[in-house]
Amino acid sequence: MLFNKKKTEEKIDRSTRILPTHVGIIMDGNGRWAKKRGLPRQAGHKVGAATFKKITRYANSIGIKNLTVYAFSTENWKRPKEEIDALMDLFYDYLIEALRDFSEENIRTIFIGDVTAFSPKLQQLIHETEAISSDKTGMRLNIAMNYGGRDEIVRAMREISAEVAEGKLQPEDIDPALISDHMYTFGQPDPDLIIRPSGEYRTSNFLLWQSAYSEYVFMDEILWPDFSTEDLERALDEYARRNRRFGGV
Ligand code: IPE
Ligand code: IPE
Ligand code: MG
Repeated sequence: MLFNKKKTEEKIDRSTRILPTHVGIIMDGNGRWAKKRGLPRQAGHKVGAATFKKITRYANSIGIKNLTVYAFSTENWKRPKEEIDALMDLFYDYLIEALRDFSEENIRTIFIGDVTAFSPKLQQLIHETEAISSDKTGMRLNIAMNYGGRDEIVRAMREISAEVAEGKLQPEDIDPALISDHMYTFGQPDPDLIIRPSGEYRTSNFLLWQSAYSEYVFMDEILWPDFSTEDLERALDEYARRNRRFGGV
């Protein structure tokens, strides 16, 4: 973990530590996990999907209010067709399962990203999942699919400029709060903590606008399929050690 060594040794009392309200996870490393085992990349995605379910349930159980997971980026269409097809099948199977499980989970799921790029069958399931979970009062789960931070900002700019062109808004009305209201995550707090396993130290276009003051935890020793609830706990401990200043003193 890319932590300050001395600080990492600082013991955190998990019963009293400050929890982030909104956690983002870049679920990375599925392909390398599979490659290490001589398996096709798809096999890593399959285990990664199971990890996603486990971590989502756990995050809800410990009181995380908002969780955003990066499942498929606007750039991931560059991958081989075989891998994309396998991912689409996996999303479909996951959603079928999620629809079945939601009644017990109390998790409200929404999708962020341009879902119109998916097959009509998958889109239908996405809408059903959102509708069925819309009255849930537990954690809010944002699944980022065909999501890109730049794409999201472009979309917001188009909406806002259309309102200006229609005379509904004045250019002076445009401020950070208004822009936030045009993001997919409108009404939700910005992510406090963003976790990325797998050893890549970049955002890869995740929540660009919302992450202005997010704390990043890069966990380079772990690939997403192996990510455990204890790894999440370690990231939460590290978050509790951070001193957030937001530009103040
Ligand atoms: C993340 O794992 C899952 C998706 C991007 C869909 P990767 O597939 O990027 O795995 P690596 O980074 O190649 O190991
Ligand atoms: C980011 O991972 C997207 C998801 C985890 C869904 P990538 O594997 O696509 O990112 P890069 O290509 O390493 O930056
Ligand atoms: Mg990757």
